[in-house]
Amino acid sequence: MITIIFEAVETKRLVLRECRPADFNAIHEYGSDPEVSIYLPWGPNSEADTGNYLDSILSYQFHNPRKDYEIAIVLKETDLLIGVCSIHITNDKTREGFIGYCYNRQYWGKGYASEAAKAILEFGFMKLNLHRIFATCDPKNVGSSKVLEKIGMKREGHLREHKLQRGKWRDSYLYSILEHEFSHK
Ligand SMILES: CC(C)(COP(=O)(O)OP(=O)(O)OC[C@H]1O[C@@H](n2cnc3c(N)ncnc32)[C@H](O)[C@@H]1OP(=O)(O)O)[C@@H](O)C(=O)NCCC(=O)NCCS
Repeated sequence: MITIIFEAVETKRLVLRECRPADFNAIHEYGSDPEVSIYLPWGPNSEADTGNYLDSILSYQFHNPRKDYEIAIVLKETDLLIGVCSIHITNDKTREGFIGYCYNRQYWGKGYASEAAKAILEFGFMKLNLHRIFATCDPKNVGSSKVLEKIGMKREGHLREHKLQRGKWRDSYLYSILEHEFSHK
């Protein structure tokens, strides 16, 4: 398996690029916001939590072969980091991976998450040569379900109590998209 480098990508309003140590403050701003992590297994993050997270995602850039990409999503207009969108290879043989994302609350509801996730799918299919990309979300996380549907993913399952999150069993919707279903438009 060869390691694929993530080259910065531009969409209409965004730049997707590798994360940097200087992204700490922007990542901590949303990571420490309790509303952002309501449906997530982590957070709200302390500065130490954000430091550990940033260290681990920066280390991905040196993994060989590389399976994990946590990509900074930057608003072209202001050059500010508004969130992170990720893609992870879960199986080399069946060419499968999954995506995830998290954004600063100030920028929700503007279509940025969908715009970036679409570009991440493109990277997954065109550069990582994946066959199937999946994502899961809490059924209560309507915004996330909508993002996955807007980028062409199909809901293929409802996983019952497959996560133990904050001491409670949690269901997930399972979404996926296959390489032949992906459209560049
Ligand atoms: C999930 C998340 C990325 C969505 O971001 P966003 O900026 O709202 O996404 P977009 O604007 O691209 O699109 C989301 C769509 O869902 C809608 N939406 C967002 N929140 C909603 C809610 N609570 N109820 C109903 N619709 C909602 C938006 O209006 C938009 O719909 P539209 O295109 O028809 O207007 C963002 O809320 C977030 O970062 N949440 C915290 C982290 C998280 O939950 N990550 C996902 C884990 S599975």
